[in-house]
Amino acid sequence: MPAASSGLQPAAARLLDALLKQSTGVQAARNELRWMQEALKQSPATVSGSTDIESMLHRRVTGEPLQYILGTQPFGPLNLLTRPPVLIPRPETEDWTIRLSERLRSFGKAPISLLDLCTGSGCIPILLCHLLPGGSLHATGVDLSQAAVQLARDNSEVCNVTIPPEGPVLPEQCGDWTCNTFLPLLGNIRDPAFVAACGLRPPYDVITSNPPYITKDDYDKLSPSVKDWEDPRALIGDPEGEATHEDARGLTFYHTIADLLATASRGLLKADGLVALEVGEGQANAVAEILEQKAHMKDIEIWKDPWDKERVVVGKN
Ligand SMILES: C[S@@+](CC[C@H](N)C(=O)[O-])C[C@H]1O[C@@H](n2cnc3c(N)ncnc32)[C@H](O)[C@@H]1O
Repeated sequence: MPAASSGLQPAAARLLDALLKQSTGVQAARNELRWMQEALKQSPATVSGSTDIESMLHRRVTGEPLQYILGTQPFGPLNLLTRPPVLIPRPETEDWTIRLSERLRSFGKAPISLLDLCTGSGCIPILLCHLLPGGSLHATGVDLSQAAVQLARDNSEVCNVTIPPEGPVLPEQCGDWTCNTFLPLLGNIRDPAFVAACGLRPPYDVITSNPPYITKDDYDKLSPSVKDWEDPRALIGDPEGEATHEDARGLTFYHTIADLLATASRGLLKADGLVALEVGEGQANAVAEILEQKAHMKDIEIWKDPWDKERVVVGKN
């Protein structure tokens, strides 16, 4: 790209040349520059920490993910806020969340109660709240990270999704709500007391989760733009220093979720409820087996992502 002709100051033009050398091509670098310029023009308040293009290019050249520099990431028709170290919502997750919204439209009952485990930015329940008819969905999300819970709250606000002020919406209160709701809560799903500690009100109609699922070996091979910026707790599937299942392979959180589903006293899911879990490459069959064997889930389906990878395991109670 002829940096000189792009109308940039010399320092910014040098940074753009550096970005061009690092990026996947002229068009990619050109797009990134345009998105940064547009973000500065449209909503300087969300461009976290930068008020000029030179500073944004400098951040990018030193490896910061573009989405943290722009401060937002499209997710379906929404524009979600992004802030380090909370995981940037991925297109794979966007794709299956839209597909799930279509399934929930014909779920046969409303309003639907939904629990999103490991909610992060809140992307899954917030998009579902946006896509489903008002008053048909009351979602709760749980995450271990205070930064994630705050971002999920902020995302609810910018996406006009109501946070119920009095805590979880109870079945007898559903008729009072004409809008969909989402309540993000701080909690550790691996704490055996987490249901009570979070004040959850099971059973739910639907449980969703995109839990951490990367093996430690694969995590070590990730690019610095992921490892240096996104919370390792959002990525590593077998948390270090915690009890993990012996065949872990990134699957510890699926065992945790299946245990939660299986334990009657903590039964999270209604008798005819639905579970949808995002999985990593090559994990779908193992996760389907965990759900069948531990949680006695039926009618297991495996959904592929737009790149033909097995991406979601869906089961019924
Ligand atoms: C892969 S990210 C998914 C975030 C979001 N649902 C999405 O799809 O972008 C996993 C999330 O799980 C959270 N997490 C990790 N361990 C957890 C635990 N023990 N209890 C609750 N949340 C946890 C992380 O903080 C992170 O936000």
